[in-house]
Amino acid sequence: MNTDINVNKPAPFVTGKRLEIFNLSTEIKKTIQALEAGKPVLIADFYSNGVLLLKELHQYLKSKMPHKTFQEQREYRAAYHKLSNLILLEIINYKIDVKKAPGIGWLEKLYTGNTNFLLTFPQVQGLNSSWQWYQNGISVPTLRNKIHPYYGVYFPTRFDHLTVFDNWLKRYEGPKKSAIEVGVGSGALSFQLVGHGFQKVFGTDINPNAIIGLTEFMGDTKLSRKIELDHASLFGKWDKETELIVFNPPWLPISSDNDRTDAAIYYPEELFPDFLLLQKNDWL
Ligand SMILES: C[S@@+](CC[C@H](N)C(=O)[O-])C[C@H]1O[C@@H](n2cnc3c(N)ncnc32)[C@H](O)[C@@H]1O
Repeated sequence: MNTDINVNKPAPFVTGKRLEIFNLSTEIKKTIQALEAGKPVLIADFYSNGVLLLKELHQYLKSKMPHKTFQEQREYRAAYHKLSNLILLEIINYKIDVKKAPGIGWLEKLYTGNTNFLLTFPQVQGLNSSWQWYQNGISVPTLRNKIHPYYGVYFPTRFDHLTVFDNWLKRYEGPKKSAIEVGVGSGALSFQLVGHGFQKVFGTDINPNAIIGLTEFMGDTKLSRKIELDHASLFGKWDKETELIVFNPPWLPISSDNDRTDAAIYYPEELFPDFLLLQKNDWL
């Protein structure tokens, strides 16, 4: 495991305020009023109480706010986001402290040493679905083995581009000493390169979780000697010439309309000029 970079994870909820408690004997209307007043609410007894409260919150906001136009839907989502992120669960010894809660291995893996803290219900839901993807793995048509995406790392959900790349690799007749992959993510393209006989792949990613996840996944298998990783932007520390450069980049421009920060999807204006410039300086 790469230990000198910090993993991205949902930040524990910290509050000086007294927590309101929600269970089946609490009046839902009062709880929603508390949320609207900015008071954090702790889910008690059963995990399903949290699911119920979220459902009621949706219904309440739908009845209160119009949500037809794009702008109205945006405002509705913002209100839901704000209030749902005040609904909390307590984590004790890496377990969610209510009955019938899902077991989420990320709690121990990502919060080692932190045995008592609060997370919001949406954060827990995100961790839970990520844990399912990670544990069950994802079958990719161009790879023999499943990929196991680490928490917070992009993974392919459509495979056309992987098939196109695979067909291209099948026909590629040049040397296969080494390749660079910018933005390895969960490793799908790097695994393809190795599968098609590339001896070395040098990969980078600005997302620490991509590097941590792939390092853990490869362990000290043969693969770990073929794929070397650097937590860095663009070409990182790799400055030697390679036969191939691969980059499946983020595809939407960051704009003032979307303050999204997911670097797997949104790219800053300078990304492509920098990528092309670095290639030109280093290799032409
Ligand atoms: C669309 S995803 C592709 C991931 C993977 N290569 C695949 O095809 O499944 C883009 C990846 O590029 C990474 N990325 C974005 N900007 C980057 C940069 N400047 N340098 C290195 N990686 C970057 C993101 O973190 C993300 O993992």
